Amino acid sequence: VEAAAGPQRLRGKRVVVSAGGTREPLDPVRFIGNRSSGIFGCEIARAALAEGAEVCLVAAHIDSARYPHGVSVVEAGTAAEMERAMRAASREADVVVMCAAVADYRPETTSSTKLKKEGTRSTRLTLTLEATPDILRGLVRERRAGQFIVGFAAETGDDRSVLELGQAKARRKGADLLAINHVGADAGFGDVDSRIVLVDSRGEVVAELAGSKPQLARDLVAHIAHCLS
Ligand code: CTP
Ligand code: CA
Repeated sequence: VEAAAGPQRLRGKRVVVSAGGTREPLDPVRFIGNRSSGIFGCEIARAALAEGAEVCLVAAHIDSARYPHGVSVVEAGTAAEMERAMRAASREADVVVMCAAVADYRPETTSSTKLKKEGTRSTRLTLTLEATPDILRGLVRERRAGQFIVGFAAETGDDRSVLELGQAKARRKGADLLAINHVGADAGFGDVDSRIVLVDSRGEVVAELAGSKPQLARDLVAHIAHCLS
């Protein structure tokens, strides 16, 4: 087990973390995806492990070299697979962290053969997408007694609108904690420093964290441990 040191504030706790980004297939070679690298979710899993938790990582398209040693990994590539995996993994969990970037919409149909441009003679293509299930909301709805659920909010804009959008999202989702993340062309994705604001289910700010992703992850996990105690 990696990094067994630390105050062990989550000893005996079962923690499930989803991470990465789903890909919704159009055909065997194409998909609709997003820029999530999975780095942050892996850091959260690593930090929970270092606090003594038993950790399950539900991974959507993460480079397996990033999986922390000592966590059990379930791979889930699409929103539908992620929903199934998270419901199963969360059944026994004390803490659920929904960090993955889940597609909000997916192609209504997936072709089993490669879509061809020949014969269509068209300069445009219209795709019909359908909504995916909101996994976090479902987990909150079906939560077992005492389970602590953490969500994320990826928002763009200036700091004030990011906070307001995140607070509204917190009230909609009902998670115990929502980590509001400022994202954009040059913020929030990949190996860069970030800032997150933690709000409770009513949208009240409970903490502000800043630093590298490993540091943010450790601080977030410490905050979760504090909430559980
Ligand atoms: N999420 C989820 N299932 C989805 C979409 C999002 O569980 N189908 C989760 C994410 O993992 C995150 C939280 O919901 O923890 C918020 O995701 P976000 O994309 O910021 O919010 P949405 O509710 O999808 O709203 P929007 O994208 O319109 O801002
Ligand atoms: Ca979304």
